[in-house]
Amino acid sequence: MLTIAVSKGRIFEDALPLLAEAGIVPTDDPKTCRKLILATTRSDVQLVIIRATDVPTFVEYGAADLGIAGKDVLIEHGAESLYEPLDLNIACCRLMTAAHKDAPPLSGRIRVATKYVKIAQRYFANQGIQAEIIKLYGSMELAPLVGLADCIVDLVDTGNTLRANDLEPRELIMNISSRLVVNKAAMKMKHEAISALLTQFEKTLANR
Ligand code: ATP
Ligand code: PRP
Repeated sequence: MLTIAVSKGRIFEDALPLLAEAGIVPTDDPKTCRKLILATTRSDVQLVIIRATDVPTFVEYGAADLGIAGKDVLIEHGAESLYEPLDLNIACCRLMTAAHKDAPPLSGRIRVATKYVKIAQRYFANQGIQAEIIKLYGSMELAPLVGLADCIVDLVDTGNTLRANDLEPRELIMNISSRLVVNKAAMKMKHEAISALLTQFEKTLANR
């Protein structure tokens, strides 16, 4: 049995066609079903449905053999203990700094709201900027509006969320897409099944 960890929402939606090309179609819809382990049309493959930020943990500990996670989550988690053989090119966006559209360029000691604490710390340290990082779990865009922070570090796709909140993108930190990650022991123990799956994904991605 191969177990693949995926998160509900955009990664799941974007991954579905890719999985389907490999003959993997969940037999229940996670939007309506409360099951956390989903059987699929392949008797040798099951999906576990978890929070996006938990995917590296499940794969690292071997609770899932494979997982699909954003590069943002992988870097923040520190995913050196995982193989990352494929860029799936799904859930693409950018990790950026953003500030109020009327705010002057940031200078001096600044406060930054983000859920990407480690990435933000590293980024501002490399820029030589003194930054106090305030950890939030969501709605980062609110922080500059209510005086909690001078700027945020968050994901930007269309830019609609920033615009709707009178913020503007400032600096690009990195481009983000979702990656297939593999548990190192599983790669050895289940090599044949996993490499067959990788080959199938590669074929699908090459035809896109
Ligand atoms: P969690 O449930 O752990 O808090 P989340 O709510 O951030 O995670 P999603 O919003 O589904 O989960 O995001 C999952 C991944 O999709 C992110 O880690 C990122 O790689 C990507 N992503 C997030 N927002 C966007 C977006 N607006 N456009 C494209 N991709 C995005
Ligand atoms: C993500 C991200 C931004 C928004 C950016 O939030 O945290 O708020 O998408 O996308 P945009 O540039 O297209 O507006 P998400 O939709 O995942 O909401 P959540 O973080 O509250 O789950």
